[in-house]
Amino acid sequence: MEILEQLYEGKAKKVFKTSDPDLYMVRYKDDATAFNGAKKGTISEKGIVNNKMSNRLMQQLAEAGIPTHFVEQLSDRETLVKRVKIVPLEVIVRNVAAGSFAQRFGVAEGTPLKQPTLEFCYKNDALNDPMINSYQIMALELATEQELTEIAKIAFAVNAELQKIFAAVNIRLIDFKIECGRLDDGSIILADEISPDTCRLWDATTNDKLDKDRFRRDLGGEVEAYQEVARRLKL
Ligand code: TMP
Ligand code: ASP
Repeated sequence: MEILEQLYEGKAKKVFKTSDPDLYMVRYKDDATAFNGAKKGTISEKGIVNNKMSNRLMQQLAEAGIPTHFVEQLSDRETLVKRVKIVPLEVIVRNVAAGSFAQRFGVAEGTPLKQPTLEFCYKNDALNDPMINSYQIMALELATEQELTEIAKIAFAVNAELQKIFAAVNIRLIDFKIECGRLDDGSIILADEISPDTCRLWDATTNDKLDKDRFRRDLGGEVEAYQEVARRLKL
C-alpha cells in the first residue's frame, strides 16, 4: 500500500489517495478553527487524540452493526478509510440544549431534551453551513428520501451507542455532528470523525466542558480537556 498525492486539505484533516482505489488515507492536524474558520488556532496533540478516539469509537460502532469508513490506523495521526463521496450535510443529534440550539430556541444551555433531536446543515463554507430541512435536501438533490431515512437511522444509532460509551467514563454526551458518505454501490456509511471537535462532552459530575467549546469560547484548558477524554477512554 502506497500513499499517493494529497487530494484535499480540510480545516482539521488532510486526505490522500492511496495505491488502492477503494481506500483513502486521512492525516489529522492540530489546527483548530471555529465560526467557519473566522477563529484560528492550534490545540497541541489534538490530531493524535482525534485520530485515536475516532478510530476506537468507529470500531465500537461497527461492532454494534453501524457501517463506518474505518479500515486501519496507520500511525498516531494517520488512518486508512474507505473511499466515499461525502453527502454534503452536517448531521447533528442533540440530547441536551446547548450551542446554536440553546440560542435559536431561547432554552438555557444544559436543559435536557424530552427526546433526541436531529437537524441538518448544508456543508457549504461560502454560505456558512446554513441549516437545511429534509424537503430542501431532497429538492436540491443533496440526498434522496431513502438516503435520508438511512442517515437518520445511523445518526440515532450512533447516539445510543455513544451515550453508553461515554456514560461508562462519567461523560455526558450533550450533542454531536456526524457526516455520512456513499460507497460506489450507493450504500451510506458513517464517515469523517467523532472527536471532541465534533461532540459536546461534559463531565457527568461537574458539567465541566471536555470538548472544543473550550477553544470556541476562549475558556482555556483545551489541551488538557482533550487529554482527559483520551485518558478516560484509555486511548
Ligand atoms: P452547534 O450547537 O454549534 O450547532 O453545534 C452542534 C454540534 O455540532 C456540537 O457538538 C459541535 C458540532 N459542530 C461541528 O462538529 N462542526 C461545526 O461546524 C459546528 C457548527 C458544530
Ligand atoms: N466548522 C467550524 C469551523 O470550521 C468549527 C466548529 O465550530 O466546530 O470554523
